[in-house]
Amino acid sequence: MISNKQIEEALRVKLTDVFETLPEMPKFQEGIRRAPKREFKLSKGDTKLALKNALRYIPEQWHEQLAPEFLDELLSRGRIYGYRFRPEGNIVGKPIDEYIGRTTEGKAFQVMIDNNLNFDIALYPYELVTYGETGQVCQNWMQYWIIKKYLEIMTEDQTLVIDSGNPRGLFKSSPEAPRVILTNGLMIGMFDNQEDFNRAAALGVANYGQMTAGGWMYIGPQGIVHGTYSTILNAGRSKLGIPEDKDLKGRLFVTSGLGGMSGAQGKAVEIANGVGIIAEVDYSRIETRYTQGWVSSVAKTPKEAFDSAKKYMNDGVGHAIAFHGNIVDLLEYAVDNNIHIDLLSDQTSCHAVYAGGYCPVGITFEERTELLAKDKSKFIELVDETLRKHYQMIKVLVDRGVYFFDYGNSFMKAVYDAGVQEICKNGENELDGFIYPSYVEDIMGPVLFDYGYGPFRWVCLSGKEEDLLKTDEAAMSCINPDRRFQDRDNYIWIKDAFKNKLVVGTQARILYQDALGRMNIALKFNEMVRKGEIGPVMLGRDHHDTGGTDSPFRETSNIKDGSNIMADMATHSFAGDAARGMSLVALHNGGGVGIGKVINGGFGLVLDGSIRIENIIKRAMPWDVMNGVSRRAWARNENAIETCIEYNNIRGGQDFISIPFRPKEDLIDSLVESKWEK
Ligand SMILES: NC(=O)c1ccc[n+]([C@@H]2O[C@H](COP(=O)([O-])OP(=O)(O)OC[C@H]3O[C@@H](n4cnc5c(N)ncnc54)[C@H](O)[C@@H]3O)[C@@H](O)[C@H]2O)c1
Repeated sequence: MISNKQIEEALRVKLTDVFETLPEMPKFQEGIRRAPKREFKLSKGDTKLALKNALRYIPEQWHEQLAPEFLDELLSRGRIYGYRFRPEGNIVGKPIDEYIGRTTEGKAFQVMIDNNLNFDIALYPYELVTYGETGQVCQNWMQYWIIKKYLEIMTEDQTLVIDSGNPRGLFKSSPEAPRVILTNGLMIGMFDNQEDFNRAAALGVANYGQMTAGGWMYIGPQGIVHGTYSTILNAGRSKLGIPEDKDLKGRLFVTSGLGGMSGAQGKAVEIANGVGIIAEVDYSRIETRYTQGWVSSVAKTPKEAFDSAKKYMNDGVGHAIAFHGNIVDLLEYAVDNNIHIDLLSDQTSCHAVYAGGYCPVGITFEERTELLAKDKSKFIELVDETLRKHYQMIKVLVDRGVYFFDYGNSFMKAVYDAGVQEICKNGENELDGFIYPSYVEDIMGPVLFDYGYGPFRWVCLSGKEEDLLKTDEAAMSCINPDRRFQDRDNYIWIKDAFKNKLVVGTQARILYQDALGRMNIALKFNEMVRKGEIGPVMLGRDHHDTGGTDSPFRETSNIKDGSNIMADMATHSFAGDAARGMSLVALHNGGGVGIGKVINGGFGLVLDGSIRIENIIKRAMPWDVMNGVSRRAWARNENAIETCIEYNNIRGGQDFISIPFRPKEDLIDSLVESKWEK
């Protein structure tokens, strides 16, 4: 048998490059959130396998000491994180020049990885969870170090291959190929369910990357503020009759969650000039958002929250109130006291409802954590009871005229799984969807995604605020606010972005843009880098976008030709972005809504000012967006058809998009009806 010594000699990158001796266990800093114990149901045989898997990263001289330590982690936390290898203290995305690397990309991705693990950003930084309860950068700290080491030595002729956080190695490619190709949690169809995923994750072979956690593109809750701002603003316009040039002044939005993404809700409602009450059971998250200025006051009781909201509504002033408590208690108070709410949603982590994402009513957040660890079946029982009650409250409020929408967190699916069949359109199962709209189906899809508007984002890798200011101004100069109301909203957003103090972590910005908007801004930034006006820039997006994500209950919920159950578009996004030379391409299972429910393709592009990158921008940026718009057009979505016709005119000779003919409805109806009658 080949010895471990021979293996050590054959490795180019290993943990002993970082640690000469086994490091001391780092101290866990007080007040930093820790992930609850994850489901652990491994058999004895599987437990042995999990230990052997984790020890693959570890040189033999440390096996005796680490094997029992890893077993202890597995039994007490449900996963092996390799805590011992976590760097002491906070991890921050530093200026790019402070990283080691042979390529700009290699250094740039280290900035992004570290930013995703920052105490101010990550949900459970010690467990490498960036957001969304379970979304991890990679599975363990051994992987973290080995990925970083590979990024340091990677040349422009190599590509780093990572599956589910496991750095499989550097492979020869070319400067035109991606520097990093990664995938997360892709399961074989028959095993593509939460239970099998939990086993694979406990074995150390699957990572849940959410979307921008495992794709290293998270920029803090700002990333989602713009989308939330657009969603509630346009919900107000289309459901409350607010004119296109007006905002949410004097209107009340009630919701829950001040976590990773849900934390954006307070800021978004204030920017849209409305009043928001956001229920949150975990006080530490309220503190974080309050200190950041993302909520403006805290209420201890539902009465205090609604009284204070009324005052700000009367004054016509934008204001976000965090209510410390359960959303169900808040809604029950509104129902009992006949309080008027304009817009209602929920952003608890219902995609992981039984893994701690949704807190039962009647117990505190701390009790929920204890119960989850000690008595899972009781916990599940309480979650289900709470979901049923939550649904009843919403039903009453909707009957009174409130507009409720599902916020892409699988809330309606969770209610259905808790035994409420009447939440299904067909009264039986989820196959025909649910009775309340998802925000994409009603708002984001037709108003934004079908035109190609989506969450374009960038990070100024120099870490300099002045670079961000320059890029804000440059991006603004690329937008014509008079073209559509969406452009005007985006223009106002970027004009006020700096004033709104959105940055948490690295100097990053989000700006919804369409295909050519993204391309033009990217070209402008690359030129600025070339001229030395700014340092290198990372471009990306989240997967909550026009293209990239196939998610029947969310991103693609307004695709009505039956193809919403297919994952072809996301796969093309991944392959197409790789073929066109994006710096990083990613394909994930589960982002946003849970394992088996979505496939997400994503990218990162490092702007170094070169002509090579200019060419990649021209071929890859429009593709990345129009991949989604063309698929939406093919599903006969009116706004997407309009966008493709316009695009074919502008880009004729370079791109040709297929556009569907549409038969008269009468023709189909009468034909099929007549056959059915017979
Ligand atoms: N806004 C969007 O556009 C968007 C995009 C992607 C995903 N999501 C979905 O939104 C959900 C939230 O994401 P996140 O990153 O904020 O997750 P998170 O887990 O960081 O935050 C959820 C918060 O809800 C709180 N909470 C749980 N149960 C509660 C209850 N009953 N009452 C009050 N508060 C409660 C938790 O304490 C937590 O702080 C996820 O399911 C995510 O997939 C939303």
